[in-house]
Amino acid sequence: MNLIEYTQIGEARLYLQDNRTVIKTIPDNSVDLILTDPPYNIAKYSTGNIDLPNRTPLNNDIAEWDNVEVNPEEYVDDFKRILTEKGNIFVFTTYNCIGKWHAAFDHHFDTTQFMIWHKTNPTPNIYKKGFLNSCEMIICFWNKGHNWNFSDQKQMHNFIESPICMGTERLRNPKHPAQKPIKILKHIIQIASNENDLVFDPFMGVASTAIAALELKRKFCGCEINSQYYNAGIQRVKYFYIHHN
Ligand SMILES: C[S@@+](CC[C@H](N)C(=O)[O-])C[C@H]1O[C@@H](n2cnc3c(N)ncnc32)[C@H](O)[C@@H]1O
Repeated sequence: MNLIEYTQIGEARLYLQDNRTVIKTIPDNSVDLILTDPPYNIAKYSTGNIDLPNRTPLNNDIAEWDNVEVNPEEYVDDFKRILTEKGNIFVFTTYNCIGKWHAAFDHHFDTTQFMIWHKTNPTPNIYKKGFLNSCEMIICFWNKGHNWNFSDQKQMHNFIESPICMGTERLRNPKHPAQKPIKILKHIIQIASNENDLVFDPFMGVASTAIAALELKRKFCGCEINSQYYNAGIQRVKYFYIHHN
């Protein structure tokens, strides 16, 4: 029996809960796509806000939740168990974590690949002392016979460009520092799942994956541990249904 509370809105089920608890309640072979964006654990590399001449310092704060180390080994057995035979896994990650995801998952799946999201409007680096942080990595795993919908060779490039989330899409209150653009999430969902499939995001933040999945007529299940982000996600999903019914 499932004793964990959740909010169901249309085809979306949202849990305000640690994903390691929720995942134990998800049935075997029931998720078609795991698309998620775990903390990058980059806080330890941050040098804090950046002073700018004659301007307010550039906010380089790292969120509190980023300090909690994510261990991919803790997830691999359950991700494998809940994924359907044709399922795919896509995990946003970064240079300091990609090796950990690879080491934990690669030997469990037939194929490991990665994608690059090139951000066309990264934060500027006025001192020109290093690269801009303009690329994010997405590591992917699947087995033979996985769902894979591509229309042409161009769509199969493991490179996609888009600005970081901004304009009306960007939530202001709360502002989530890692809110992902719907365009990127829809691109992945389109390629790697089919209509009516179930998409699971165990680190859902403000539910961007939910909106992308619902827009593409997929079902969604997600977990978020922070109540402010969770509530913002609930509002986004409700807003989606008000405007799509
Ligand atoms: C990188 S953010 C995801 C942002 C999301 N892609 C979006 O567009 O809003 C990671 C999120 O995972 C949440 N989180 C961290 N550990 C968690 C856990 N064990 N269970 C559920 N959520 C967790 C954090 O609170 C944070 O909001």
